[in-house]
Amino acid sequence: MGEFSGKVAVVTAAAGVGIGQATARSLAKEGANVVVSDAHAKRTAQVANEIINEYGVKTLGIQCDVRVPAQVESMVNQTLREWGRIDILVNNAGIDKPSPVWEMDDESWNLIIDTNLKGVFNCCRAVIPTMMKQKYGKIVNMSSVLAWLGGKEEGVAYVTAKAGIQGLTRAVARQVGKFNINVNAVAPGLAHNPFLDKLQPPEYFQKIRSQEILGRDGTPQDMANAILFLCSEKAGFITGSCLCISGGWFMY
Ligand SMILES: NC(=O)c1ccc[n+]([C@@H]2O[C@H](COP(=O)([O-])OP(=O)(O)OC[C@H]3O[C@@H](n4cnc5c(N)ncnc54)[C@H](O)[C@@H]3O)[C@@H](O)[C@H]2O)c1
Repeated sequence: MGEFSGKVAVVTAAAGVGIGQATARSLAKEGANVVVSDAHAKRTAQVANEIINEYGVKTLGIQCDVRVPAQVESMVNQTLREWGRIDILVNNAGIDKPSPVWEMDDESWNLIIDTNLKGVFNCCRAVIPTMMKQKYGKIVNMSSVLAWLGGKEEGVAYVTAKAGIQGLTRAVARQVGKFNINVNAVAPGLAHNPFLDKLQPPEYFQKIRSQEILGRDGTPQDMANAILFLCSEKAGFITGSCLCISGGWFMY
């Protein structure tokens, strides 16, 4: 019996090599039945199968692009048909396409805002009516320390979206608190994974590392641990908050 035995958890963007998969695995390890949701169909099925085999929980792999409301609704309906409830929603999906503001085209802006910010709205809107009926729910949204720091190499749309997520988190938390639904955000610093090495040069990570006062890079598991805390009963009196997880890179 784990801490989340019997709970149903939906994790978006859970089929990559980063925070989403680490969170889905950690929830499964603690007994939750997990929806591995991701835009990438093949990896979604793979990760869902691995989790079933490794942790023996029930798992659904559902392809879902969080930008598309119809796909989000379909993912929620499929989950409800299978398991009848959704206790936990981790809105992890996010991408960046760095560019200075004067060079950013409309297409890039829309892609980043739609994935990072509208995706969170789409998933909250689709899941919250079920949580209201249950009078129970835990939602964790994915922000970033860059919402406070402003970023530099990172794009303006990304920073804007991650700051917007903090506002959305507070607004939604206010609306649903009376239904026993906790809504919080996490703001990771660096959660190093092999995919990021393809996007940024080593100097990018060295610069961040020099500012992480704990003297090491953050990992996807560091972030998953904090997300699980916010999904747990130990965090029952926390709502509308944003937990900074950056090894001291940024202190908030
Ligand atoms: N990695 C970091 O250092 C870091 C730092 C701060 C914040 N974050 C945020 O944490 C979240 C996870 O990032 P990560 O780097 O750990 O990667 P991750 O592995 O958790 O996510 C990557 C996955 O996202 C999926 N995805 C992309 N667009 C999608 C969409 N529209 N719908 C559904 N799935 C989609 C991809 O298919 C991929 O499998 C993001 O929101 C990111 O902005 C990451």
